Amino acid sequence: MLKMINSLVASETNLIANLANICAVIKEQTDLLWVGFYLVDGDELVLGPFQGPLACTRISFHAGVCGKAWREQKTQLINNVHEFSGHIACSTKTNSELVIPIIKNDKVVGVLDLDSEKLNAFTLDDQACFEEISQFIATLF
Ligand code: SME
Repeated sequence: MLKMINSLVASETNLIANLANICAVIKEQTDLLWVGFYLVDGDELVLGPFQGPLACTRISFHAGVCGKAWREQKTQLINNVHEFSGHIACSTKTNSELVIPIIKNDKVVGVLDLDSEKLNAFTLDDQACFEEISQFIATLF
């Protein structure tokens, strides 16, 4: 998938256009319910390009799985979102979630958020793969 993403963005410099197409590729290559970006906007995350059901537009630094990935600058692999205290349920269909921070010059500039209808949908291999993709995405910022 990284190869596909790499060639997809090679001829375009606009960040939003590239993030939008990256979402489309991930959504098409997986059976995920929701794939999208939240971008750092002051002390909040604001909704960026995504594919899937409608989502909340703003997430505070202190809230949700996305806020935790931002605060800790660490991927959050949540096997069962119903057991995560403070999970923000944008869709009641979501059961597991993987959130990877996008880190540029040691600062989080956004997060890649992946939601699944299945419990335990994400493996450590998935985490490693999407961390590699997120490292590449950081170079686009
Ligand atoms: N579940 C996320 C919020 C974003 S939606 O999943 C699209 C969270 O708890 O941060």
